[in-house]
Amino acid sequence: MDALPLAAAIAHLKQHKDQHHWSLRELFASDTQRAETFSASAAGIYLDFSKNLLRKETLELLLQYTETAGLKKQIQALFAGESINNTEHRPALHTALRFQGTPKSEHEQAVADCRTQMARFVEHIHNGSWTGFTGKPIRHVVNIGIGGSDLGPRMVCEALCPWHKPELSVHFVANVDGADLSDTIARLPADETLFIVASKSFSTLETRQNALAARHWMLEAGCPENALEKHFVAVSSNIVAAQDFGIAAQNIFPMWDWVGGRYSLWSAIGLPIALACGFDVYSDLLAGAHAMDTHFAEAPFEQNLPILMALIHFWYRQCWGAGSLAVLPYAQRLAKFPAWLQQLDMESLGKSVDREGHALNYPSGAVIWGAEGSNGQHSFHQLLHQGTDMIPADFVAIKEPTSELAEQHKWLLACCLSQSQALLQGKSLAEARKELEASGHTHKEVHRLAPHKVIPGNRPSNTLVVDKLDPYHLGSLLALYEHKVFTFGCLLDINPFDQWGVELGKVLGNAVYDAIEGEIPAEWDGSTANLLKLLLK
Ligand code: F6P
Repeated sequence: MDALPLAAAIAHLKQHKDQHHWSLRELFASDTQRAETFSASAAGIYLDFSKNLLRKETLELLLQYTETAGLKKQIQALFAGESINNTEHRPALHTALRFQGTPKSEHEQAVADCRTQMARFVEHIHNGSWTGFTGKPIRHVVNIGIGGSDLGPRMVCEALCPWHKPELSVHFVANVDGADLSDTIARLPADETLFIVASKSFSTLETRQNALAARHWMLEAGCPENALEKHFVAVSSNIVAAQDFGIAAQNIFPMWDWVGGRYSLWSAIGLPIALACGFDVYSDLLAGAHAMDTHFAEAPFEQNLPILMALIHFWYRQCWGAGSLAVLPYAQRLAKFPAWLQQLDMESLGKSVDREGHALNYPSGAVIWGAEGSNGQHSFHQLLHQGTDMIPADFVAIKEPTSELAEQHKWLLACCLSQSQALLQGKSLAEARKELEASGHTHKEVHRLAPHKVIPGNRPSNTLVVDKLDPYHLGSLLALYEHKVFTFGCLLDINPFDQWGVELGKVLGNAVYDAIEGEIPAEWDGSTANLLKLLLK
């Protein structure tokens, strides 16, 4: 797409914004059907987007822009496995990882074979036929990986804790800070522990260092060199590097260059999920994601959840100066959801050039942040309500109680709904004054205190209602956000599948390590050189 249609669309949207007075209270008062009109559902998820600064014309303009942006074609290209990652000349076929039924392509056949290998392995671990170096069954699994090789499976394992097999504990180590690995393994018996070295590239510094340290620990604990294969498996697309590390060929689960790291939890990177919960649970997760894929590929755009969410976010990003998006899952077990989404969204959309390499003259990805509700209400929500920035929020509510404490679930839902209501309504100066007068304050006090009690309101939010926090619906929720991010990338005309920015830090990290071991190069900036001297003193 050339820059003009995008610039024109943004200009048009800004004009539309300037032509109207935007009051959520008034929009609701003037349309009793607003909640029904501005909602849609799919694959067990209901999206209420009525609490957004949107009119029907806004949506029409945004939908018109999807035509200019060629969104339909891009979605088809995604599913067809075209080389849409145009800087790495690869398809982005994470949707093939969750195919259902019989394989219909070479990619799906590879996935099916991998699933068979995973299922067999999981069975051996669960039935105790896979034993460690002393002949005892494996009772503990440690996944060593970082970024996409960590965040997805870690978040899903936590979300699905009611499905965990009691006989196996699953742990995650990501940080190169040795405390992460040593604190984790301190509690584990080496002869009953299995490490999964999860790294698409098998060259990631953190993962390699942790894997080497784990190997050393295993040998120190008495594991003979020739029994290491009972304690180390790998998931990687770099089979040679995994074998060089000492992992037996039959213990390497494949990954492919057509799966991006941040989209990889549906591949064998999801092995910890299958081990923690069983292969059937992992399969349900895939089925839920597939249901959302089908919705994304087939539903009309005006009812298409990922597309609606991307369009709304695009509107705030381009026309309202919204630099961040708060993601607020009202579910303790989804506490790691924002961290997973941060990588997905910010690694995908944190770009400064379009697909052809031209500098963007409009903002790209926003900062994604958030935490589980209701905890956030007692910390950062203050800024959402009364700060000077307008920060759109996504609330995620779970319909079915997630514990037997059903009364608490009612309170959780009350917290969730009242927060989006408060963001919408706010409190005017007149209302604040009235409240203070009613509680007996003097005229002077009312005058002094009222401005502090004003809450601007008119702050937009989406509410996603997920039927149940089970594997199927979780799969559907995650795929929804994956497609939202992809759509946002299409609207911005950027490649959401590369991450060159991360690479510079990796290269410089090696150079700094060399300087720690040797000489500080004369051409370095003074700050880095000084800090290094200070740290080495
Ligand atoms: O640091 C960025 C990144 O490249 C992510 O995209 C990826 O998920 C992560 O590193 C881990 O990479 P790997 O699986 O190759 O170790």
